[in-house]
Order: sequence, then C-alpha cells, then structure tokens
Amino acid sequence: MTAVRACVFDAYGTVFDVHSAVRRHAAEVGAAADAVSQVWRTKQLEYTWVRSLMGRHVDFWACTEDALEFALAVHGLAERPELAQALLGAYRELALYPEVRGVLEGLLARGIKIAVLSNGTPGMLAVAVGAAGLADLAMPLLSVEAVGIYKPDPKVYQLAVDALGVEREAISFQSSNAWDIAGATAFGFRAVWVNRTRQPFEYGLRGAVAEIGSLDELAGVL
Ligand code: 2OP
Repeated sequence: MTAVRACVFDAYGTVFDVHSAVRRHAAEVGAAADAVSQVWRTKQLEYTWVRSLMGRHVDFWACTEDALEFALAVHGLAERPELAQALLGAYRELALYPEVRGVLEGLLARGIKIAVLSNGTPGMLAVAVGAAGLADLAMPLLSVEAVGIYKPDPKVYQLAVDALGVEREAISFQSSNAWDIAGATAFGFRAVWVNRTRQPFEYGLRGAVAEIGSLDELAGVL
C-alpha cells in the first residue's frame, strides 16, 4: 500500500465539537438543549446536500444560520433572537477536541503534511482555528467555497490533492461523518472514520476503512 504522505481532516465534528456551542449556553436553551443541538447539526448538513443537488449554493454560514432558526423554532425558541446570536457566536469558536493539537504536531514531526478540508467558509475556518490556538501550525484550510458545492462532491476532495501536491492514494482523510468517509473513499483517498459516538457501520464501510474512537488512535492505523 502507498505510504501516507498527507493527512487531511474534516473540521466540524472531527476537529471541532459541534455540540459545544449549545453546551456553552445550555442553561439559556433549557431542557431541549441536546435536542436543539442535534436538530441544528442534522438540518445544517441536510441543507448542504439539498442545495448541492438543486445547484443553489449558499455558504456554510448561511446553512448554519438557517438550521439554527429551524432548530429553535421546533423547540418553541424562535422568539429568542438574543439566544440565536449567542449560539451563533459560540459556533464561531467551537471547542477543539482535546487530542487534536498533539496529533497534528506528531504528524508534522513525522514529515506528514496536514490540512483541513471542510464545508466551512474560509472565514469560519480561520476564526475557529485561531480561537483553538492552532494558527501557528500554518496548515492549509481548504474550503468548499473554492468549488461552490458541498461534500461529498468529488470536486471538494480534489481540492486537497491540488493544494498539497500529493496523489490521492497517499492521502489519509479523517472524518467523524460516515457519509464524508464514504465520499472520500469513493474519490480514492485512504480514509479513517473517527467514530467518536460509536455509530454502527453504514455505506458499506465495514472492512473498507479504519475505524477509531478518537484521533489519539490515528498513528496506529496509518
Ligand atoms: C465539515 O466539512 C462536514 O461539517 C463537516 O467540516
């Protein structure tokens, strides 16, 4: 098998904890906090797929705002604009999963290139990476905005090949989203599913990709 020369990371859910925004404001959201966060994430992703299929791209921040509006309305919180603003503010600076920095530094020390490849806008990614204290690693932050369509369109994964100058077989792609792993393997990346919440296998991934519980285990499967 070709040796891994680059590791490319999905951002939301893989490097950043998407549920940390609602957690930060759990008291203001109230009893529905977990449900609001789940609906917010589910709708955010749904909007990316539907817009891609319709050929009506809007950026990931717009999808995030629209999805939050829906999630708050479902739970009777639509009349709380200050809450929506607080949650969106928190989404810009999501919590970093604790192992991420050490893992990235370890890869760089081994001479492996690193990058983020995300639905997020360049602005969202820069702010999140800055807030998480990762800016000094100077890793490329590759955004779907360069191609105007969302994952899992193959044009998105091609961005990493072009930016890193590494052939797809030598790129390991890490995502916590099984559908993203399916897209990445269909494109020809090696892929590692960061199955943080121990979801069952889907998309025929069992046996086809490495599965780990957190990025701490990444070095062992490359
Ligand atoms: C990302 O592209 C899919 O949200 C995920 O960062």
